[in-house]
Formats: sequence, structure tokens, C-alpha cells
Amino acid sequence: MLALILLFMFLGTAVVAMLKATACVRRVAMGVGVLLDFTLIVVLALDMVSAQWQFRWAARAHGRPYSRNLANTVMTVILTVMVMTAMYSQIWYDGLRAVVTHLETDTISAPSFPAIAVFQRWQNSQAEIYPNEFKCYSGPKDDNAVQCSSLSVEESLNTSSCDCGDSWPSAERVARGGDTVMWLGRNATYYSMLPSESTVSRGAGHFLTLQVFFSYNKTESFNNESVTLAPGMWVAIYDPTFDLAEALSSGEVYTAQIDANSHTVVDIGLVYYHLEVNFHLGRYSLDVCLLDVTISVRQNLDLVCDVDYEFWYLCHLTLEVQIPSFRRTVVREEFRYQWSNVVADAGAYFALVQFLSWIVSGSAWG
Ligand SMILES: *[C@@H]1O[C@H](CO)[C@@H](O)[C@H](O)[C@H]1NC(C)=O
Ligand SMILES: *[C@@H]1O[C@H](CO)[C@@H](O)[C@H](O)[C@H]1NC(C)=O
Ligand SMILES: *[C@@H]1O[C@H](CO)[C@@H](O)[C@H](O)[C@H]1NC(C)=O
Ligand SMILES: *[C@@H]1O[C@H](CO)[C@@H](O)[C@H](O)[C@H]1NC(C)=O
Repeated sequence: MLALILLFMFLGTAVVAMLKATACVRRVAMGVGVLLDFTLIVVLALDMVSAQWQFRWAARAHGRPYSRNLANTVMTVILTVMVMTAMYSQIWYDGLRAVVTHLETDTISAPSFPAIAVFQRWQNSQAEIYPNEFKCYSGPKDDNAVQCSSLSVEESLNTSSCDCGDSWPSAERVARGGDTVMWLGRNATYYSMLPSESTVSRGAGHFLTLQVFFSYNKTESFNNESVTLAPGMWVAIYDPTFDLAEALSSGEVYTAQIDANSHTVVDIGLVYYHLEVNFHLGRYSLDVCLLDVTISVRQNLDLVCDVDYEFWYLCHLTLEVQIPSFRRTVVREEFRYQWSNVVADAGAYFALVQFLSWIVSGSAWG
């Protein structure tokens, strides 16, 4: 009876142990396994002794002979429990927790552009952004182009250019002072260009062009830094399914302080990450698009927006973003063992154990 209860406990823990491989579960599973084995051995030993006993004392009467069949079954269970417990603690437990990385590639059609954020100045060597002046267009500049967000993906692939100006923060958002995020130890204001789903790339040579207008106080920069630095601007490029704070905290973001008074080309390579995470509450998986970003900068020769100069006007940063290749690197971080591998493995060992106990129990000798 005790053996039966323990057997059910063993099966129960086995299921939990496969689904949730934590140190505590491992200890419990091993405990139950060892306890069950011990009980079964005692039961088998008692049974054998009592069978011998009865056999000797009441050989002629109805003494129960030692049954090879029963012994075979009990032996199988004992060995199975023993092997499974040992395998779990030595191999499967680690396999269920160990992570292996697979690298693959695939090709996707019409990837949409990433989100791009620019940070407002907080040091005097940085550009003072004019957030009412953001521009964005996909493909060659065309003043009569329709909004990209009003097109479907197919239409977007079929038009030479569209206007993505509405991907920048709305006028109310700008009037409220933009968004803020903790960046470099301070509460920094940023403006994010969040492209619509249909702002998709048509491949190499199709550029998403952003323009950011700004001014600069060269005197102030010189007074503070003792050298005249070119105006800088922090940019962050990230997956628009997350907001910037999430992207920064998980590290799935590209950041750089670029020369604002420039024409900068950004090439995006696509990397897709599938992660399986073992958490104390169980396992879950996470899919993220990482970006493999390369930037090349071409500086403007003159700085027209120095506010200390009488005839100044706004400078602008031109960012040209392209996704030249649709070939994507896929990184899969997976657990070495899934529960299904463990079940398959356990089945194989069970066959072996059955064979062994068939021999050991004496059934094989007729
Ligand atoms: C120079 O820059 C530093 C760092 O941003 C700032 O703390 C300091 O007040 C600035 N000094 C002047 C004179 O603007
Ligand atoms: C693509 O555009 C052309 C000309 O603008 C039009 O004739 C054609 O039907 C469009 N194709 C699709 C699939 O929308
Ligand atoms: C950052 O600043 C904004 C506006 O100045 C404020 O609303 C927000 O609470 C601040 N966040 C933090 C974390 O200080
Ligand atoms: C630029 O900075 C200098 C030095 O800090 C200051 O005297 C001047 O007023 C600033 N110019 C403007 C237009 O703010």
C-alpha cells in the first residue's frame, strides 16, 4: 500500500521534475525515488523470505511458491525507479537547464523599419532640437506623397515614395515636452520616430530619410569645453514593439552620439533572437528583433545655426536608413532537453531495464 502511494508520488514528481527543473524539485524527486526504491526492495525481500518460509514449512500444503513473474515486475519497477532517478539527477536535470545556441538564416519579405529616437540636448556641446520641424519620407522626397500609414504593405511596396512625417511625435506630445527616459544617469527628453507597420523596406537603395532641425551655441560650447566641438546628438535605434525604456533596460538597442551637422547613412542588418528562459515560475520564451547597425557619417563643412552669429538659421541632420538585405540571422537559444526528449530517453532506458530484470529475476532461465 505504501509502495503504491509512493509510486504515484514518484510519477507525480516525475512530471513536475520535467516541467520545472529547479534545484528544490530535483531534491524532492530524488528523495521520492530513493524512498520508493527502498520500500520496494524491502517489500520484495520480505516477500521472497516469506515465500521461502511458507514454502519450507508448508511445502505440501498450499504454500505460495516464489513467483518469478511477480519478481520480474517488481524488479523492473525497482530498476526503473533507480535508473530514472539516477539519470534525472545526473543527466536530464542538467539537460533541462542547459542552453544551447543554434544559428540559422532565413529570408523575410518587406521588413518594416526600426524606431529611431533622438535625444534633446542636455550638455552645451549637443544640438538644441526644434521638435516642430521633424521630417520623414520613405523613398525619394516628394512633397505630394501620401502618408505611409494610410497604405497597406502591398501598396507601400508598389509606391515609389510616401510621407512618414506622422511617425514623429504629435504636436500635443511635443507641446507637453516630449517623452523622457533615464539615459546616462539623467532624465533625458527624447523624440521617437515610430514607423507604421506599412513603412516597409524595398531593399538596398530604398532609404527612409529623417530630418531633424536644430541650433547650436558655439560660444557656449567653447566656454565650457575649451575646444569647439561639432554639435552632437544621441540617437537610439530599436525594435518599435518595445518602448525606449524597455529597449534600454533589456539592452536591445543601438545607441550612438553622432555628429548632428551631417548626412548620416544607417545600414540595418536583421537579427532575430528566440530565447528560452528558465525562470523559477517555469519556462517561457522570448522573441526579439535585434539590429546589426552600421553608421557612416559625412560632415557638413559649415555650421549655419550658431545662435551667436547674426544671420543664423536652423541646421539639419539627415539620417538615411536602409535595410539592404532581407537575409536574416536567426539565433535560437534553446534548452538542450525538452520534456519530450526526456520521455523518449526514459522509454529507451525502460526497455533496457525490462530486459535486465527479465534476466535477473530468473525468467530467462526458464
Ligand atoms: C558645462 O557642462 C557641464 C556638464 O554638462 C555642466 O555641469 C556645466 O554647468 C556647464 N558649464 C557651463 C558654464 O555651462
Ligand atoms: C502598382 O501600381 C501600378 C501603377 O501605379 C498599378 O497599375 C498596379 O495595379 C499596382 N499594383 C498593385 C498590386 O497594386
Ligand atoms: C522626468 O521628467 C518628466 C518631466 O520633466 C517627469 O514627468 C518625470 O516624472 C521624470 N521622471 C523621472 C524618473 O524622474
Ligand atoms: C550663447 O552662449 C553664450 C555663452 O554662454 C551666451 O553669452 C550667449 O547669450 C548665448 N547665445 C544665445 C543666443 O543664447
